[in-house]
Amino acid sequence: MPDNEWDPEDYDEGHGFVAEYGRDVVRLLDPQPGERILDLGCGTGTLTAVIADSGAEVVGIDAAESMVEQARERYPDLHFAVADAREYEPDAFDAVFSNAALHWIPDEDHDAVLSMVSEALGETGRFVAEFGGRGNVQRVERAVRAELDARGYDTNHSWYFPSVGEYAPRLAAHGLEVTDAALFDRPTELDGGASGLREWVGMFGDELFEGVSEADREAILDGVEERLRPDLYDSETETWTADYRRLRFVAEPTR
Ligand code: BEZ
Repeated sequence: MPDNEWDPEDYDEGHGFVAEYGRDVVRLLDPQPGERILDLGCGTGTLTAVIADSGAEVVGIDAAESMVEQARERYPDLHFAVADAREYEPDAFDAVFSNAALHWIPDEDHDAVLSMVSEALGETGRFVAEFGGRGNVQRVERAVRAELDARGYDTNHSWYFPSVGEYAPRLAAHGLEVTDAALFDRPTELDGGASGLREWVGMFGDELFEGVSEADREAILDGVEERLRPDLYDSETETWTADYRRLRFVAEPTR
């Protein structure tokens, strides 16, 4: 999985929109009292707690220890574990939920994750997930790559942002039939005002900047802002809007 250096406090305070948008995905999940639900990539636990409020019994897992520590501190009554979804050995669950996490898992590792989800659900239940879909943050990513490229840095890292047509057969190969799916634009206003784009790249783009000197990093961020300002910045409100696209789906064990 790409190694991002997670700062849980900054994640909650400066990127709260991640969980805010995720509430829609919880609504789609429609958790019921007594259901056992696995929250895959739970981060600091905000949505795990929303799911638990329904009366469901939730287990939140995340590969980042710092995030799980924060989740446990915030919600001591809930159950969290540090676990890599590719290697997790699940109990039986009625549903698996995931918001804004699966794009961190490289393309070639999704089969291991889907196999785990399929095992968790057995013959019934549902997998409800949303993550970055094809074209997600493409303008931002291209601008960063162009600036890195111009300074001779390697730009081989990438997140995984599939289309519906690409992901549905992968789910099917693991016995998970898509019953609802959409790929949609969701322009997303970034927190942080005039420095919102820098902060976003600072929070999520560690891997892109691996091996980049501090001085170059600042110059690259200046260049990225310059490239994107005409299209993604509103100077009146001092707000950056990133070109998010979401892949959202519900899949169920094939009958
Ligand atoms: C996303 O939620 O789409 C996302 C967040 C960070 C990096 C890449 C994508």
